[in-house]
Amino acid sequence: MPERHEVFATAGFPDRRLRRLRRTPALRRLVAETHVVVDDLVAPVFVREGIDAPVAIASLPGVVQHTVGSLVAEARELSGLGVPALVLFGVPLAKDAVGTGASDPAGIVQVALRAVRDAVGDDLVLIADCCLDEYTDHGHCGVLDSRGRVDNDATIARYGEVAVAQAEAGADLVAPSGMMDGQVAAIRAALDGAGYPDTAILAYAAKYASAFYGPFREAVDVEIAGGGNRRDYQQDPANGREALAEVRLDLGEGADIVMVKPALHYLDVLAAVKRSVDVPVAAYHVSGEYAMLAAAAALGVVDRDAATIETLTAIKRAGADFILTYLARSAAELLGGR
Ligand code: PBG
Repeated sequence: MPERHEVFATAGFPDRRLRRLRRTPALRRLVAETHVVVDDLVAPVFVREGIDAPVAIASLPGVVQHTVGSLVAEARELSGLGVPALVLFGVPLAKDAVGTGASDPAGIVQVALRAVRDAVGDDLVLIADCCLDEYTDHGHCGVLDSRGRVDNDATIARYGEVAVAQAEAGADLVAPSGMMDGQVAAIRAALDGAGYPDTAILAYAAKYASAFYGPFREAVDVEIAGGGNRRDYQQDPANGREALAEVRLDLGEGADIVMVKPALHYLDVLAAVKRSVDVPVAAYHVSGEYAMLAAAAALGVVDRDAATIETLTAIKRAGADFILTYLARSAAELLGGR
């Protein structure tokens, strides 16, 4: 940027114009390039079938598995705090090879979607994570072929059924998180075919095979069979440019919003995606990222509130239009409403 060079060439030395604007809180607010607001926040929530009181999640302090009733109460409170959206994950009683519960109209997420919609109307955007891993007995995000590998095409057909069940139950957005090729096109076709052209798709477009999903798997009681992993469908953390290919394909298939996940370790990817598209870009500040902050705060080595705002500011500065984060509720309280 040549302007910067000119500043020092013309203003004499020492030039104080940068520190001058940092002198008071009001000045700093005036010149801040990034403002985190409650409208940026999406709260991930878990609802578990067959419990009669919320269950704490040890690895995610402050986050619980809800009953349908406690979820409705939480949704009302989040809405009251001004949080515009939540993303729902289900923990079913029964799991099987094809994840039947995910698309069952009486499955836990569908029951919860209807209950929350009844309670809050259109005050909250309801996003449904569209995947099979919480519902399969082997813990993979899809159905397996005869050799035990995730079968791409059989899986995206199932995602279409899941998305239709979620739309029927009232989801505003379905969010495919399985990283199968062609998943967005399959879901768009299924939604349109079933009469849900207004249900939007939030595509987990660039989702990495990350070590930072550990606490989430406790939250949804998922263990991948045989000590397996998701590296043959989620992205390699080594690859940045590849994220742009994922995003381009998802947009071509009809994604309405694209997401980068995790957030903090992939801010470069987030910034590159933001520059390359003109649709909204989301970021998922994932369970392990939240757990690290919570652990450091519990040890007294970082200030929780300051770290919360700095974390969200960094993710927004990098390019996120909104942020899925377990900090949503506490951040909304800190930010004091809209
Ligand atoms: C898959 C899914 C996962 C997360 C969101 N959707 C787990 C995975 O890919 O293994 C992780 C979210 C988090 O860690 O906060 N349905």
